[in-house]
Amino acid sequence: MNKKTIKIRNQFLEFFRKKKHKIIQGSSLIPKNDTSILFTNAGMNQFKNIFLGQDKSYQYSKIATAQYCLRTGGKHNDLENVGYSNYHHTFFEMLGNFSFGSYFKKKAILYSWELLTSKKWFSLPKENFLITVYETDEETYDIWANIIGIPPDRIVLIGNKTENSDISDNFWQMGDTGPCGPCTEIFYNLKNNKCNKQIKNFRKKINDFIEIWNIVFMQFNRINDGSLVKLPNPSVDTGMGLERISAIMHNVSSNYEIDIFQILINDIAKISNTTDLKNKSLYVIADHIRASYFMIVENILPSNENRGYVLRRIIRRAIRHGYLLGVKNIFLYKLVSSVNKSMNINNSYLLNKKEYIENILKKEEIQFRSTLNHGLKLLHSKIKKTINHTLDSEITFYLYDTFGFPFDLTKEICREHNINVDRLSFEKHMEKQKNRSREKKIFNQNYIMMHNTENISIFIGYNTYKTESIIKNIIKNKTSEQFISSGEQGILLLNKTPFYPESGGQIGDIGIIYNNEGKFKVKNTEKNGNMILHFGIVEKGILHIEQKVFSEIDEQYRFDIQKNHSATHLLNSALHKTLGDHVYQNGSLVTADWIRFDFFHNMPIPLKKIQEIEKLINKNISKNILITTKIINFKNIKEKNIIFLSHKKYEKHVRVVSIDHYSNELCKGTHTERTGDIGFFKITSVRKIASNTYRIEAKTGKNALHLIHSQEKKVLEICSNLKTNPNNLKKTLEKIIIKQKNLEKDISKLKEKNITNIIAKLNKNKIKIKNIILLINTLQDQDPKTLRNIMDILKNKFKKAIIILANLINNKVTLIVGVTNNLHELIQANDLIKIILKKINGKGGGKPDIAEGGSTYIHKLPEALTEIKSWIYSII
Ligand code: ALA
Repeated sequence: MNKKTIKIRNQFLEFFRKKKHKIIQGSSLIPKNDTSILFTNAGMNQFKNIFLGQDKSYQYSKIATAQYCLRTGGKHNDLENVGYSNYHHTFFEMLGNFSFGSYFKKKAILYSWELLTSKKWFSLPKENFLITVYETDEETYDIWANIIGIPPDRIVLIGNKTENSDISDNFWQMGDTGPCGPCTEIFYNLKNNKCNKQIKNFRKKINDFIEIWNIVFMQFNRINDGSLVKLPNPSVDTGMGLERISAIMHNVSSNYEIDIFQILINDIAKISNTTDLKNKSLYVIADHIRASYFMIVENILPSNENRGYVLRRIIRRAIRHGYLLGVKNIFLYKLVSSVNKSMNINNSYLLNKKEYIENILKKEEIQFRSTLNHGLKLLHSKIKKTINHTLDSEITFYLYDTFGFPFDLTKEICREHNINVDRLSFEKHMEKQKNRSREKKIFNQNYIMMHNTENISIFIGYNTYKTESIIKNIIKNKTSEQFISSGEQGILLLNKTPFYPESGGQIGDIGIIYNNEGKFKVKNTEKNGNMILHFGIVEKGILHIEQKVFSEIDEQYRFDIQKNHSATHLLNSALHKTLGDHVYQNGSLVTADWIRFDFFHNMPIPLKKIQEIEKLINKNISKNILITTKIINFKNIKEKNIIFLSHKKYEKHVRVVSIDHYSNELCKGTHTERTGDIGFFKITSVRKIASNTYRIEAKTGKNALHLIHSQEKKVLEICSNLKTNPNNLKKTLEKIIIKQKNLEKDISKLKEKNITNIIAKLNKNKIKIKNIILLINTLQDQDPKTLRNIMDILKNKFKKAIIILANLINNKVTLIVGVTNNLHELIQANDLIKIILKKINGKGGGKPDIAEGGSTYIHKLPEALTEIKSWIYSII
């Protein structure tokens, strides 16, 4: 019976092909033209309009599919069950046969029974099945009992309200609205339990009885007000989880033990050094990597909105389980090839997407790992302090907002500690935050309003730096105005412009917009949709809407930016060549003064490599290579080995910037004509900014030269101070360091000598009362460390002693008081110092064996020391 999962899928389809069903492809995970569900959650989704009678053009009345499904939101959500149940998944395959007005109850049931039990097909023992039927569906009951011959004690009637739900488990509907109807479910008894009267509680024994096939009799459409409208054609929709039927055919008690999951689980166990292959975290990761893989394939990106947020939640939950297994570095991306292997993927479209999926997972994991540890620490400390079993909702929100913890991740961690989290209060915090950002967005909304007035600006600035334009809009104080006059700040919108708006890391242009009547200084240029916004101030005169103006960029500023942008491309390709192809750009900034380039890389970059990178770039600069651009179809970029950002959405036609064969990158930015224009390239810093992410900062042309000049100047200043020249600087410094070390040695010898002398002097001044040594003395200009050393030596020397040392330094007195341990019952250093400090208005304190303090009232010191002496006499 141990058939491969893929074979089971094929057999299912083959069975229905033989029963004259058309076998068609499953649909995309993103439902087409249907906003009632976020993801495809069942095989029938793509046929919704046929069930509803709205699509009459369909040519087949009997169909079978194998459909990828996601159940991670909305009516059908199994995310929280993953890791706790052996049979639930966020992503799974649903095998289904459908009839649109063709066969109905009897045939649907007969088909399922034949496939499951016939020797020719799945050949499962008939006595292991249990059937549920909707309470009032007598026809279905009759088919099972009298035609198939299931004994009555193995048919359970399920009513409208069950212990699990308000709506019957045997009345299926796809979402809050849409096609629905009564259903009959086929359960398999895994443990060969005797079916007796308690069978009605079988859902509680979920690990013994497993639902494998649901046959829905589509008879109604549930509409917005909740009521049911009869469908024109009674139809059939069935769904059987491939992973579940495979577990039964494998004779194992968990989906995670079937072939496709075992491949994944073994790979995860290897990466995480986990020996227990039933570890719950392995299951969670195996499930979640499949779901993430297929969501990313659909071009969903992790984000804080809609589908992107579902993806983010799944990825982050998987990362946290990796963390639980002790995986120190990013790892999820390594499992993309495991998914390919386990799902036997040989479709070239998916295989080509491997690197893209890996990069997205890498990026998300790097981002989340940078906060995960801090977030977990905070959450665990709060869990410890939680007394009423409910976590403070502010913490849940703080974890979300600051550390990127999705609500259900916090909930899961709390659940492991038997703590509840309050979703409602969390949502209230979210709502408040949304209101705050809504207010901030008002400004942007003004731009959106402007969009409606067809304000599209054309960028003509690749080769043109000055042009004649028309002012199409003026924004002052967040609102659209007719004119803007001297001294006023605002935003101008032109029909066409040579100003490059900040994008793709390149900052916006500066310059002037002017005519005879006024002059507007552009301080920055940004993009908003199709509009190019010139931010600035009117320096003189007045400018009107619909007026002709000249728009002119600051050419020198633009050239400096261009040098840096072209150098950034050379840097990107040099990094690939010197460090390896794993290098992947993770953000960049190109200004007129400097370059910032962040990238994924996993080990420190030694100076030798940095210099190699610089050499390679400068070599390509000196070759003075022509920089060319062309527009190509995005589809073709893979073949052409072009660098692009795989997480970014590109338009159909894209611009490629090429520097001979050294560098080909998708880019809309502006560049120099030839590499020689860059002049010179110099890296100014290399550092790690997050786990597996490095940042290089660099300068080009005159800015790089300035940097070298200023460093040179510093070196010359140092040389002049040290009376040497740059050639001898290293030697001179080495000599100074040796000299310094020798001096330090001499000083410490002198200090020791000083201490010996002081101790000899003090020794003469000691008094002995009974067998206790009392030593009260005043010293001059000693540093605190020396005083403490003297105190330690004296306490050791005298064994039973009370020592008070005052030290006069810079018109102040510092005090140190020591009492040996054997006298603490009688007298304590912290008490003694208190008495003295009170007399001299000082501050300080300490412990029974040692105390320190100080004061500026030195004139009172002799009196204070005399008094303390008498006080000590009186005590001992
Ligand atoms: N559409 C039905 C289900 O998902 C078959 O259970």
